[in-house]
Amino acid sequence: MEYKLGLIGYPVKHSLSPWIHSQFLENAKINGTYTIHDIKDECLSKQIDMMRETEYKGFNVTLPYKQKVIPYLDELDDNASNIGAVNTVLNDEGRLIGYNTDGTGYLRSLQQYYPQIVEEKDKSILIIGAGGAARGIYYALSQLGFQTIDIVNRTRDNAVSIQELASRNTVTHVLSLTQGEENIHQYDVIIQTTNVGMKPGVQYSPLKLNNIRDSAIVSDIIYQPIWTNFLKEAFSNGARIHHGHTMLLYQAQYAFELWFGFRPEIGRMDQQLKQLLEG
Ligand code: ATR
Repeated sequence: MEYKLGLIGYPVKHSLSPWIHSQFLENAKINGTYTIHDIKDECLSKQIDMMRETEYKGFNVTLPYKQKVIPYLDELDDNASNIGAVNTVLNDEGRLIGYNTDGTGYLRSLQQYYPQIVEEKDKSILIIGAGGAARGIYYALSQLGFQTIDIVNRTRDNAVSIQELASRNTVTHVLSLTQGEENIHQYDVIIQTTNVGMKPGVQYSPLKLNNIRDSAIVSDIIYQPIWTNFLKEAFSNGARIHHGHTMLLYQAQYAFELWFGFRPEIGRMDQQLKQLLEG
């Protein structure tokens, strides 16, 4: 039997998901294929019917369909329902169940490099940005019980809507970019989730890091480039670094686990993906 997996989005030609999932399949000795489906908006419904009927085991969903896919699914898990976006679908004998693996994937990747962090719920966290990725990460961190998770964003209302996802242990202040910059020394973990600094705009950074704690962990979820200006500045100010490609790997790992019921090995894929991205 050959398992079918795939990705829908637009444009997805340059996605790294086929590379990641093909390795998971191969390493686990599972006969399967992972195909990309670059589809226009008006074809979304037909595409999903096709994947349901031709017994795809599961598929990933990326921009611009993470919300638009929801009406076509039969069920959402709590995580996807609270975040309001789906990036992974499991086809359970014709029933399509939507999940969001971003937050858990981010947490697993952080824990891989800084295992002690999940035990230290009193550490203060700053999330920069309030888009879809920030929402997933905030929700996962708050569910885990972190007490202080502040959000800095250009548009205040977007940050306020994330703040509404707080669990009862979490206190969140919404700050402007300037306030974030002024108070940056207060944070133990700083997580950059905007697209500022992504190729081709590599010269930009969402805020300055002159004043950070030298023990701070600084994350950027951008992986093109691997070393954003933001991470370079953090490193030169003494911070510990967490790279964006690891979130990509671990959110894919969790998706694969939802499809097949076991956690595939990451092994050397972390180094290989880094080299691939560094070209
Ligand atoms: P994703 O799904 O990858 O999180 P998104 O939902 O489009 O992407 O969110 C992009 C984030 O980057 C938002 O927080 C956005 O800020 P606004 O909420 O103010 O739009 C932020 N962002 C994008 N361009 C920015 C810029 N030039 N300066 C500051 N923030 C920016």
